[in-house]
Amino acid sequence: MIFRRLSSPRSFSCLRHNIRRPLLRNYSDDKCGGKDGGSDGKADLRTVVAEQVKSERARVKKFAVEKANTKIGEVTVSQIYGGMRGIPALLCETSSLDPEEGIRFRGLTIQDLYDKLPKLECGEEPLPEAVFWLLMTGKIPSKEQAKMITDEWNDKAELPDYVKKLIDDMPTDLHPMSQLSIAVTSLNKDSQFMKAYKKGLKKLDFWKYSLEDTMTLIAKLPNIAARIYRNMYRGGKGCDEIDKKLDWSGNFARMMDYEDPIFHELLRLYLSIHCDHDSGNVSSHTTHLVASALSDPFISYAAGLNGLAGPLHGLANQEVLVWIEKMRKELGSENPPEDQVRDYVQKTLKAGQVIPGFGHAELRKIDPRYTAQQDFAKVYLPNYEGFLLVNTIFKVVPPILESLGKVKNPWPNVDAHSGTLLMYFGMKEMQFYTVLFGVSRALGVLSSITWHRAFVIPIERPKSYTTEDLMELVKKQEEEEQKNSGKGGKDGDKKADKTKKC
Ligand SMILES: CC(C)(COP(=O)(O)OP(=O)(O)OC[C@H]1O[C@@H](n2cnc3c(N)ncnc32)[C@H](O)[C@@H]1OP(=O)(O)O)[C@@H](O)C(=O)NCCC(=O)NCCS
Repeated sequence: MIFRRLSSPRSFSCLRHNIRRPLLRNYSDDKCGGKDGGSDGKADLRTVVAEQVKSERARVKKFAVEKANTKIGEVTVSQIYGGMRGIPALLCETSSLDPEEGIRFRGLTIQDLYDKLPKLECGEEPLPEAVFWLLMTGKIPSKEQAKMITDEWNDKAELPDYVKKLIDDMPTDLHPMSQLSIAVTSLNKDSQFMKAYKKGLKKLDFWKYSLEDTMTLIAKLPNIAARIYRNMYRGGKGCDEIDKKLDWSGNFARMMDYEDPIFHELLRLYLSIHCDHDSGNVSSHTTHLVASALSDPFISYAAGLNGLAGPLHGLANQEVLVWIEKMRKELGSENPPEDQVRDYVQKTLKAGQVIPGFGHAELRKIDPRYTAQQDFAKVYLPNYEGFLLVNTIFKVVPPILESLGKVKNPWPNVDAHSGTLLMYFGMKEMQFYTVLFGVSRALGVLSSITWHRAFVIPIERPKSYTTEDLMELVKKQEEEEQKNSGKGGKDGDKKADKTKKC
């Protein structure tokens, strides 16, 4: 791929240099945090997490016991019929989502990730390895600690032969998300958690083995995903060897045959920002739910992937591009004018379809993950027709959705932008986009279940009702309220009569 001239004041001369010497591996000294990540910035992940588990476990236990009966919310009938929106019922240590502000990873905004996490010497995007450290520990890793993660993941990246064969034997017209889910499920043959559990693992040690499986799984994910990619779109050709000089994203890009260092940067951004979105979303909640039955991390995360594969969740990034491509074809232009885009949006809505990439069940503003990608595009592909069209759509869609009077959030979400960026770098296989989302999501959901095991959170079992039961419950409650409002017997009734007359 030809290197593109950058209009940004930021200097990427070293990235350019790395086209000939693709060794994007040195970790930059500046903005690396350092001492925060573990006692001295040198401790390894397991040591740091073990120390934290001890103190956090005690702190959480004390709080949960002391405040056991404190109410933090109420549930309405509409929430039961409305997808449980807003019911405060889940624990998520790794990230929190403010409807107005967007995502914070362990308290850090996306901007903070840029400002505080270690990066490669020539890079500007946060390293997913550092994001993982942050999610696991709540601390900013030193460059040394981020490199430890890279090294461990590189060491564990090799796939067992039976997994390679399984992937190679799958029909190439099977959706790549199904292939990913199947391959990940199969990895549980060697789950350390399950092996230890069968031998009689103590509850308090569950998290340790969960973390071991987490490291193995994340290490192998790029290899699995890239193999699926090569089989489906490159006739099975390409490299599947890890280059230990490269980082996790660099290797992933390389195994999919993308050598452009700017694409490697895009992948670092992509894999960082899709990692976690509190635990109420379908993929995170599913992973947690399944893991709560003590299913091992492989099959728990595979269940989450199946949820991510739905068009209202992760598959939306594929749907956006399918929708855009249809629009282009129908309007006969790569970058159609505003009025034509407006008509096309109206036509989509009239056909009873949603506008993919817009709206959110929780967010109520522009998704900061959208903005991060928009900023990337402004620097690297400001004149790309796909980017210009995304900007037109951004201008046209929100007022139309707002005018419907029912859409709670008319603004773009993360999926409205990601496909266009991938398209620019030559990744035209839209079906594959959700796989990239899935690889990133592993960082958050697997960190989360490790912490749930550290806190020994029991199996999830909320109460459900039939509509009849619910009606009966509501009826009884209303009768109770009436009785209470009429308290005081005859006097109370007289009082009510008096009020009426007045
Ligand atoms: C994300 C999404 C599923 C959230 O759903 P939700 O929480 O039910 O959203 P709302 O409460 O705002 O929905 C209220 C109504 O607006 C509609 N609506 C929401 N987003 C819409 C969109 N992008 N286009 C058209 N209609 C939309 C809903 O379908 C619903 O209509 P209904 O009452 O006739 O069933 C929804 O916004 C959507 O389908 N977006 C498009 C798919 C997408 O981008 N998904 C990725 C999310 S990260």
